[in-house]
Amino acid sequence: MVAQIIDGKALAAKLKDDMQVEVAALTTSHGRAPGLAVILVGDDPASHVYVKNKKVACEKVGIASFSYELPADTSKEHLLGLIAELNADPKVDGILVQLPLPAHINADKVLNAIDADKDVDGFHPFNVGCLAVRQPALRSCTPYGCIKLIETTGIKWYGKEAVVVGASNIVGRPMALELLLAGATVTVCHRFTENLQSHIERADIVIAAAGKQGLIKGEWIKEGAIVIDVGIHRLEDGSLTGDVDFDTASKRAGWITPVPGGVGPMTITMLLANTITAFKQHVGV
Ligand code: GUN
Repeated sequence: MVAQIIDGKALAAKLKDDMQVEVAALTTSHGRAPGLAVILVGDDPASHVYVKNKKVACEKVGIASFSYELPADTSKEHLLGLIAELNADPKVDGILVQLPLPAHINADKVLNAIDADKDVDGFHPFNVGCLAVRQPALRSCTPYGCIKLIETTGIKWYGKEAVVVGASNIVGRPMALELLLAGATVTVCHRFTENLQSHIERADIVIAAAGKQGLIKGEWIKEGAIVIDVGIHRLEDGSLTGDVDFDTASKRAGWITPVPGGVGPMTITMLLANTITAFKQHVGV
């Protein structure tokens, strides 16, 4: 079998085109554009690239972005003060604090200080809890993007075995809740899981989000499975690769996401979608 490619770049472009039209109409009818505040603390080079990409994506669809680049020695109190100001600012519908934060700042405290209705990353315990009790509000961007990618295959969710590899707050845990909401039977594997291979071998859907290059061997993939690779790693030759051994996995899977061009473009797209959702809630649409 040769897997069909799930094209995240194409899906993201289509969704952004639709959003551009919707944002233009909302901006006209409400006299302001949806607004996203992006806070970056420190000089992590990858974070600078991600934040720049987020700003460019906002511009493309007509969302106003407000940028706050703070030095690495910013105090937790200063950051919490800025978040309080943005929580109170009616032009700001979404607040995003780029992770990781410098080690002296407790990320949980900072993320929990963002008003849940402005939490466009979907990281606040309130929003994760809403997903857990089947009342999705602002949904974590990467898992929500993965669901949209899987839906392009035309899958019938009921009776499907989904295996999530990785149990982070950003991806693995909310991903498991998304899959459960969709109707799949869900297993979450993590660093203490024994015999990862045995779990992958029975999975109809594999979500690889361990952050370990090549962790998932292609030979483990069930014939016809859907494989979603959230991992992204730069090789010495400058190319990018994921957590799944793509060449062998794509000979067994039915569907697979490439790296790059799979999950990555969808994460930013769902951030824009969440910002529009937050805007609509704020203006009462
Ligand atoms: N760092 C890596 N991924 C993310 C993300 O999705 N959101 C934020 N805020 N920071 C990140």
